[in-house]
Amino acid sequence: MALILGIESSCDESAAAVIDSSAAGFAARVVAQHIASQDEAHRPYGGVVPEIAARAHVEKLSPLIAATLSDAGLTLDDLDAVAATAGPGLIGGVMVGLVTGKALAMAAGKPLIAINHLEGHALSPRLADPTLAFPYCLLLVSGGHCQIVEVRGVGDYRRLATTIDDALGEAFDKTAKILGLGYPGGPAVERLALQGDPRAVPLPRPLLGSDEPHFSFAGLKSAVMRAKLAGAHADADIAAAFQQAAIDCVLDRTRRALTTLSGMTALVVAGGVAANAAMRAALEGLAADAGLRFVAPPPALCTDNAAMIAWAGAERFALGQDDPLDLAARPRWPL
Ligand code: KG4
Ligand code: ZN
Repeated sequence: MALILGIESSCDESAAAVIDSSAAGFAARVVAQHIASQDEAHRPYGGVVPEIAARAHVEKLSPLIAATLSDAGLTLDDLDAVAATAGPGLIGGVMVGLVTGKALAMAAGKPLIAINHLEGHALSPRLADPTLAFPYCLLLVSGGHCQIVEVRGVGDYRRLATTIDDALGEAFDKTAKILGLGYPGGPAVERLALQGDPRAVPLPRPLLGSDEPHFSFAGLKSAVMRAKLAGAHADADIAAAFQQAAIDCVLDRTRRALTTLSGMTALVVAGGVAANAAMRAALEGLAADAGLRFVAPPPALCTDNAAMIAWAGAERFALGQDDPLDLAARPRWPL
């Protein structure tokens, strides 16, 4: 049994969690967790302000960690290791979480495990579903990233596709901004799309059917802006048309990637946009067509959280991996 404390602070969620990696199911594995969202602080600006985020992490992380350990009925001495996000992300926030993790690891004499935030998302489906085996095809769709990755094992990732401009979550957030839905945009666009007709507004599907593997969403975002400015469409129709165009692009690119892979155990989706129900349903259909199992973590494990960081730490701890205390935070850090 390994008890791992995870710390996440790479964007606008301050989070702490304790994982018991030997427990049988998802619910039992997450011993305790706390997340403090900073949505309120960033809302007036329509997006995350790095300096505000870093200061909020300073304020929030220590009490969140104390509350998490207290809920778990544990002290630092009971832990096997401390895992903290070391990048990629907004550097001020990453440094706050990483330094906190280092200090706790040093004080308790426990190993520090520095986690790539993307690896946290990539391995999170294995926390939710203990039967998910390597290798799997991962669609990682978040606010900062849009990638298709062959996950061959812990630390063994092959990127097949990325976005040449905006990330998918970014496109959702910009669409929300154009429609005046506020921040964060993804859930608001999804809610409004339920009331709209996706066929009412013709929107482009960038790179659909392209021979190259990548994603592009900038043209779609601009078309949303033009549709709004034209003043001829209901916002709900624009939201529905945008979401459908985004899903069509994702399905096309993922279908293409799957044709280049063999021996996959599953199609897996992770990252904040994986919380979108319409996206999940569409991908489930694609997996069925390809004869693959479909695995998507519960929505709360898709958006940023510390349980996925603790879990990635547990996966690396089981392999005997840890990191030096002088390790530097990395604003950019490809998988
Ligand atoms: O993984 P995440 O929490 O943070 C990053 O690592 O970026 O992803 C946040 C992104 C935001 O762009 C947010 O709008 C989007 O995920 N998102 C959604 C939904 N929930 C969150 N996008 C579409 N539909 C949702 N239900
Ligand atoms: Zn994330």
